[in-house]
Amino acid sequence: MTDNPKSPTGYRVLKPADLEAAHGLRAFALDVLNGLSETPKRLSSRWIYDEDGSRLFSRICELDEYYPTRSEAEILRNHTEDILNRAGVDALDIVDLGAGDGRKTDIVLEAALGQVKDVRYVPIDISEASMQGLVKRTGAKFPRLKLGGIVGEYFDGLHWLSHGNGRRNLVLFLGSNIGNFNKVQARVFLRQLWEALNDGDQVLIGFDLKKDIELLLAAYNDKQGVTAAFNKNLLKRVNRELGGDFDLGAYRHFATYDVFSGAMESYIVSLKRQTVTIRDLQSTFEFEEWEPLHTEYSYKYLQRDIDDLAAKTGFRIVEQYYDNNGWFTDSLWQVEKPSL
Ligand code: TRP
Repeated sequence: MTDNPKSPTGYRVLKPADLEAAHGLRAFALDVLNGLSETPKRLSSRWIYDEDGSRLFSRICELDEYYPTRSEAEILRNHTEDILNRAGVDALDIVDLGAGDGRKTDIVLEAALGQVKDVRYVPIDISEASMQGLVKRTGAKFPRLKLGGIVGEYFDGLHWLSHGNGRRNLVLFLGSNIGNFNKVQARVFLRQLWEALNDGDQVLIGFDLKKDIELLLAAYNDKQGVTAAFNKNLLKRVNRELGGDFDLGAYRHFATYDVFSGAMESYIVSLKRQTVTIRDLQSTFEFEEWEPLHTEYSYKYLQRDIDDLAAKTGFRIVEQYYDNNGWFTDSLWQVEKPSL
């Protein structure tokens, strides 16, 4: 924050960046305090994505075992032209929720610049590190593209959708982003998205499909240990940003599939009885030996779950695109609103 001692009025208007910085740390600290105080302990995977975490996730996306990224890239390569044709407009805002490093979106942007007269790209991501990389790379690759990124959470991003200016929105919600919500949260979120959109706007949502459990387990616990390092980056971040003293060697990554809920579940498990001190929280936390800390759910879908979700949130399914293995699907939905 920059002080302005010469300010004659005695007050200072915080710039949005200042508010975000202040809010960001507070929200993180609060979430860590709440999550570690609960039984069972939990820490949201949203906090993994600092600079190191974002880099590790980009590496996960290139692993043999992590099929979702490859499967979805295949879908986009084969079907983007069709997707854009269905939007059928001259002016399109492509809003990318949880854009990450944005590499998959390149496929869409390249096609859009060829097919649509006036394209604007609005990536939204929680990770500023990812956004810096994305803006730089995408700007260099597509110099003609109008680009305005937003660092924030999905919900903040919804306010940035175009309203009443005649521009059509195509919202991308790719990867397993939707899968990190449970079924109720997914419904609430998509209904809010529906509210924020205009009649005729479209949404392309990635759903990871239920499949052989061995494939799922391997995808969330790769041989090289990249996913383990990624998950444990949460502890590293607590150490660095909140003055924690987590001993990273005394915990292990663990991933399992719950056949009843249909979710991959990721945990960090304490290998021994230990006490962690977090200076900025002025708190200590006890871990029993083998005590789990939950970090993420990643729900897997059946086609009928997707149909049901669309019907319950006011969308019409326009088309369903699959990869050749049938492991992943991108579902194109259209907002249906009765004219008043
Ligand atoms: N959210 C992603 C997914 O569901 C990212 C992810 C992959 C992940 N492996 C993980 C998150 C392990 C936490 C732990 O696929």
